[in-house]
Amino acid sequence: MEKKTINDLAIFSGPRLFDSLRSIGQLTAPPVEAYLEILRTVYEARNLTNDGALVRRLEANLCDYHGVQNCIALANAGLGLTMLAQVFAGGRAGEVIMPAFSFRGLPHFVRWAGQIPRFCDVDETTHGLDPASVAAVISDRTTSILAVANFNSPGCIDELSELGDRHGIPVFLDSVYGLGCTYKGVMLGGYGRAEVYSLHATKLLNGFEGGYVTTNDDNLAEVLRWQRNFTFPGWRPETLEAGCHVLGTNAKLNELHAGMALLSLERLQQTIERNKSRYKVYQEIFNGLEGLTLLSCGDETGEQRNYEMVIVELGAGWPLDREQTLSLLRAEGCAIGPYYSPALHRSEHCPPGCGDLALPVAESLSNRYLQMPVGEQMSTGDINALGGLLRFARRHGEAISARLKTAGRAA
Ligand SMILES: Cc1ncc(COP(=O)(O)O)c(C=O)c1O
Repeated sequence: MEKKTINDLAIFSGPRLFDSLRSIGQLTAPPVEAYLEILRTVYEARNLTNDGALVRRLEANLCDYHGVQNCIALANAGLGLTMLAQVFAGGRAGEVIMPAFSFRGLPHFVRWAGQIPRFCDVDETTHGLDPASVAAVISDRTTSILAVANFNSPGCIDELSELGDRHGIPVFLDSVYGLGCTYKGVMLGGYGRAEVYSLHATKLLNGFEGGYVTTNDDNLAEVLRWQRNFTFPGWRPETLEAGCHVLGTNAKLNELHAGMALLSLERLQQTIERNKSRYKVYQEIFNGLEGLTLLSCGDETGEQRNYEMVIVELGAGWPLDREQTLSLLRAEGCAIGPYYSPALHRSEHCPPGCGDLALPVAESLSNRYLQMPVGEQMSTGDINALGGLLRFARRHGEAISARLKTAGRAA
């Protein structure tokens, strides 16, 4: 419903713009009949998990898609990152270098692997690890470098790989937001020692839950296959000679999730096209809206992008602060977020002393952005309605802000 006065805003008890929550996740869903059909054979054969036919088909299709030798399907991406950090540590308790501006789960994963996160600053443009910041903290305690691909760029992969090679330190990538993207014209999947992807429902490929690792390192692939299945069926001595300290776990993907992911993979290109259409509508809205700037997803470089996220920067011309803007939009039914905030070295679970680190770019980025609703639940009509709301908020910003402050004081 169109807002005529600020009393019409949901935050001031007016009707909500969206009757159901608009997500910041992809939430693709193939036709339910197709899903039931793909499950029928495995269900009837009671071949439900443990390296089943759908998992194997998914792994083969993902190898083709990424142009990579090995794909290891897992219960989720977090386990993939944990397992890799554990394998690369080779039995040592050391440090994993990672960006301070990233997904909040990353430090948790490396701590499960018995490692300490070593936060580095990020590059202003790619939002990924800044190679100079990494070079400054490499030490004999470093067991691996975890680079992260963001919605706008896979980051400085060559520079980081070169640094890793020079110091004999494995570099691996969290490519969860890099699916379908290229680096120097080549599809992501075979960079670093390994890359990790998620099949969570909010991601581009939906397996409800799930994840996978891609790698061109056959030995590493074999180790990960033992690891995901309690170290069954056992390892070859020549792989162990490479200095692996393999701890088994249960990280298997089951057939129900693999079936969903397979259907989602078949439809991936159409999903990316739909994301692109939504992104273009957002582009038009933010081109004409003073104070909010849409961050480029990097497609002007000629590299392939997946248009999965829409991130907006709040500027001086925007009359509300970030908290006020978040509250306003959430009240209207948007599951909007502040995007990687706080910076990881400021979060509650970091090792003592982290908060004192001087990481100015990560710090600054973590205070500037909003993550807008995207994905299949957001029609272009919804985006236009959101655009209308933002224009309204821009026009009446001073009055909205004053009323929110008064309400805050009264509470
Ligand atoms: C960048 C990034 N890495 C890793 C993960 C973990 O993925 P999963 O939910 O599959 O464990 C997420 C989840 O949101 C993520 O955003």
